[in-house]
Amino acid sequence: MDSLNTRYVEISPEDIDDKVLSEAGDILKAGGLVAFPTETVYGLGGDGLNPLSSKKIYEAKGRPSDNPLILHIASMDAVEHIAKDVTPEAYKLMEQFWPGPLTVILNKKDNVPDETTGGLKTVAIRMPSHPVAKRLIELSGLYIAAPSANTSGRPSPTKGSHVKEDLFGKIDMIIDSGAVGIGIESSIIDMTGERPMLLRPGYIKPEDVEEVLGEVDIDPVVLGKLMPEGTAPKAPGMKYRHYAPKGDMEVVKGEEIKVSEYILKNVRADADDGKRVAILTTEENKAIYQKALDGLVAGEGNADKPGNRDKVTIISLGSCAKAGQISAHLFDALRSLDNMDIEMIYSETFYEDDMGMAVMNRLLKAAAYKVIEV
Ligand code: TXA
Ligand code: MG
Repeated sequence: MDSLNTRYVEISPEDIDDKVLSEAGDILKAGGLVAFPTETVYGLGGDGLNPLSSKKIYEAKGRPSDNPLILHIASMDAVEHIAKDVTPEAYKLMEQFWPGPLTVILNKKDNVPDETTGGLKTVAIRMPSHPVAKRLIELSGLYIAAPSANTSGRPSPTKGSHVKEDLFGKIDMIIDSGAVGIGIESSIIDMTGERPMLLRPGYIKPEDVEEVLGEVDIDPVVLGKLMPEGTAPKAPGMKYRHYAPKGDMEVVKGEEIKVSEYILKNVRADADDGKRVAILTTEENKAIYQKALDGLVAGEGNADKPGNRDKVTIISLGSCAKAGQISAHLFDALRSLDNMDIEMIYSETFYEDDMGMAVMNRLLKAAAYKVIEV
């Protein structure tokens, strides 16, 4: 693809520069692409009703064009312009959680092009709460189609620098507003069936939705069950191996002490083989690995291989006692593994209070569902 002259701007969410955001809006209106922050992850925006913009989005991401895009809106009246048959329950859901990290699937109106919905008769809609996203949508006057602003197959970007890594030279503008708050993509609820169905877990939990709507079904892929061959997942994006680090990855599950024993045994063996290894753990547990592995430098049985400790990277995703830390750091950690050319990754299982399901869903995808029970 031709190399574009990408404009990189920083905008503080506390001090929004309307002039720059209007220019970004003009780029979008002219069919160009602008990456912008949302409260979940950075999005790659284009005019959602312009088929050519959607084509450009797929090209820039290297994403299969049957994987539909989410339309981002800034006010409730926008819904009826792009969706039809919207039930009172669907409105109730949107009113409760918007603006915020929830995407709703509704039947689409004819003005939404097949290029945006991947040929589906439904459309995904979300009203973000991030002030920069909100203002950009308002100033552009558009329905902004925006997938996560990463190259297809890489972790979603949670910082402007991640977007730069993947899309610099491929899009017209990148708006950097620092690290996002949530760090994992929005929850997706399909409201076109008889009962609401969760297609992708996120910050908004099924229990939260149940409080408003009663029972919610959960798509089996969400729970980490692989699709039987020949069946199609409800959210087309779920069939691709997302967030895949270059190295192999195992998620280790079981009693805490057995988990750390398993990880340590394997890390030592891999490091002895000269492999670059990483451990994904928590603030609470990282000392267990540090203590045990520091013995590797001149340690028992390793005196002949003094350099092995250098092969091992211990990454803490944050404290599991503080809500939202693990999810906020997960994608950044997965990216750093690639940047360090890590060949083998061992991850603990994270039972974070509020976002456990969302975190484990992303982690299992990254590991291609390789779970070791100890
Ligand atoms: O938090 C988010 O949702 C971010 C920010 C930028 O808003 N966006 C995002 O977009 O994660 P993307 O394209 O990376 O993921 C959208 C997911 C895909 O799995 C896609 O298959 C699904 O939504 N999706 C979109 N339209 C759909 C539809 N009509 N029916 C079912 N699933 C749909
Ligand atoms: Mg994505």
